[in-house]
Amino acid sequence: MQYPKRYMITAALPYANGPLHIGHLAGAYLSSDIYSRYLKLMGKEVAFICGSDEHGAAITMRAKKEGTTPKEIIDKYHALFQSTFKGMGIEFDYYDRTSSDGHHATAQAFFQQLYDKGVFEEKVTEQYFDTEAGQFLADRYIVGTCPKCGYDEAYGDQCESCGATLSPTELIDPRSTLSGGRPELRSTRHWFLPLGDYEEILKEWLDEGVLEGREHHDPESWKAHVLGQCKSWIDGGLNARAMTRDLEWGVDVPQNIEGSEGKKLYVWLDAPIGYISATKKWAEKEGKDWKEFWQSEDSALIHFIGKDNIVFHCIIFPALLHAHGDFNLPTNVPANQFMNLEGRKISTSRHWAVWVNDYLEQFPGQQDVLRYALTRIMPESRDSEFTWKRYQEFNNNELVNALGNFIQRVLVLTNKYYGGKVPEFDPNEEIISASDADDTSYHDAEMIDLFDLLHDYGNHMRQFEFRAALQNVMELAARGNQILQFNEPWKAIKEEPETVKVVMNASLQMVAALSIAMSPFLPFTSEKLRQLLGQEPLSGQGELLEAMNCLAEGDLLLSAGHSINEAEHLFSRIPDEIIEQQMERLRGAESENLESAELTELASEITFEDFQKPDLRTAKILSAQKVPKTKKLLEIRVDMGLEERTVVSGIAEYYQPEEIIGRQVVLVANLAPRKIRGVQSQGMILMAEDPSGALQFISAEEGAIPGSQVK
Ligand code: 2FM
Ligand code: ZN
Repeated sequence: MQYPKRYMITAALPYANGPLHIGHLAGAYLSSDIYSRYLKLMGKEVAFICGSDEHGAAITMRAKKEGTTPKEIIDKYHALFQSTFKGMGIEFDYYDRTSSDGHHATAQAFFQQLYDKGVFEEKVTEQYFDTEAGQFLADRYIVGTCPKCGYDEAYGDQCESCGATLSPTELIDPRSTLSGGRPELRSTRHWFLPLGDYEEILKEWLDEGVLEGREHHDPESWKAHVLGQCKSWIDGGLNARAMTRDLEWGVDVPQNIEGSEGKKLYVWLDAPIGYISATKKWAEKEGKDWKEFWQSEDSALIHFIGKDNIVFHCIIFPALLHAHGDFNLPTNVPANQFMNLEGRKISTSRHWAVWVNDYLEQFPGQQDVLRYALTRIMPESRDSEFTWKRYQEFNNNELVNALGNFIQRVLVLTNKYYGGKVPEFDPNEEIISASDADDTSYHDAEMIDLFDLLHDYGNHMRQFEFRAALQNVMELAARGNQILQFNEPWKAIKEEPETVKVVMNASLQMVAALSIAMSPFLPFTSEKLRQLLGQEPLSGQGELLEAMNCLAEGDLLLSAGHSINEAEHLFSRIPDEIIEQQMERLRGAESENLESAELTELASEITFEDFQKPDLRTAKILSAQKVPKTKKLLEIRVDMGLEERTVVSGIAEYYQPEEIIGRQVVLVANLAPRKIRGVQSQGMILMAEDPSGALQFISAEEGAIPGSQVK
């Protein structure tokens, strides 16, 4: 496969309707920034693009709720996103917004081309219309009872309880969220993308990495969970999707198209085209040709996204790009999974989140600590979990004790022994080699190890294994600490000054390499370190490549006699109080949330006979697992004394499967069995629901005999 000459890197456009939290960073922004910084250090030509996603029903809904306009909302969050990204060192080459004129024009031209090529099917369908509000209702504006699980607050496009994908007309008892009234069905005409027509080409491209008979990418290089999700979508059958909506806010369907009045582009058509419009603006500013990045065969297209965006970037947008013609399809879509927070899903509405702008305010100058912690547990292949305790441990044990300590010792000793100058050494100086190489000098052996480590680091970076690449950086620091510990220059300086020169010179080369290798992860620290080393700041123009070439040639990264500056601490310990404060904030946000919520009203009276109908039993949880492709469901096996049962329960947001094993719960044992997402559920586990909607088990005391009747 040809090595790409150029890289078109995109990060999912965030919806401009709420602040960014650490899950967003860990999902797409940190990974894309690391990758783009790495490629630039390797001298590659890169366009790293993002922007605010400023259309879509969520934004108009929020504006309505707050009695303001979409414009006010997007302006506020667009500005907040810009300062948040900048504050965290997420360095896009261009950050655009989809409300800009340029984007509207590009999106319309894209739509027009599809229209002119006859790609769309025009169809009249029945859609819900709110007569009071006088408008058609986007899927999210309609709630009702889920036909699959009976949850009564399911949305028109999805039931958040059982995870089923729905269409609004499937809802039982639909209500409009605008007026609360029952909407009526009215006919409306829209343009549909017949996705089924692209099934074969998408399959070949995804499964074999082949596009129109030409080798396109190595499918092995894609993440298994991404391919798995694509496969299940395709296997489930690809239906035509409307590419337009009846909305007030969004990109207009081009006016010259008949019937375009009042119609807007579907936000999932408009948003990814935002990547293209932003590239155009960047190219104009930089004097580049945007087409080279999107359309030439020697350019790679890489989309960084969270896992909830996979279908849009791996199926719908590629089908659109292909239908349009001229465009490359993605070379890779290294989507991340989700990051949980302190044992629970991050939830904006429940205030269970760490907001990045808050972090920047509360931890000034500590951006790299968060970048480090989030990369250490980046959900690259499975969901992961952020806890403040781990954050503290990562900082205190790894950044302060391992990385910072090594650098600090090298800088201090160089200043102390050599007046801040890199010492010259005798290459033939015999010292016990920690790298066991017989015919190589100690210094050479260390430099070969260093080169190998950087090589390994590069491989991980290219394969989107950022955790592993960060591990390489930390190995380098660990290796440095080992060398110092082994040779103890502070003791040897009197008796063996020549040996110490070899050791210190090698250590300084390692620190110089660290200043480059750490920079995709810890850009702020790298900048400080370069300054302490008396080196130019990195400009992202091939410095890593240069350093590796230098090592391969047997040259030094810091030549003898080069002056460094006085040492300064790069990291500082985070005390327990700070962590406790953050936990307190989370708890506070949660209880505030609870206070503002109201308890539900009491239900109407029932007779004693009514009460006796359900047969309630205690049961013990034997095993639990997530129901695939659902957000909320766990499949739970319980021991009911008389027999074992399988029950499906919508509690996955509140409990991890492994933590509930062995618990005593209460089961409605005589509930008629029903199938939920393909699993036969025999009964229902009772839960207490607090006013915010959070669920907790109703438990029997420890020692209760499974199967005991609850009366
Ligand atoms: O999920 C989201 O936040 C969407 N706004 C992502 C859009 S990505 C792309 F299509 F622009
Ligand atoms: Zn449901």
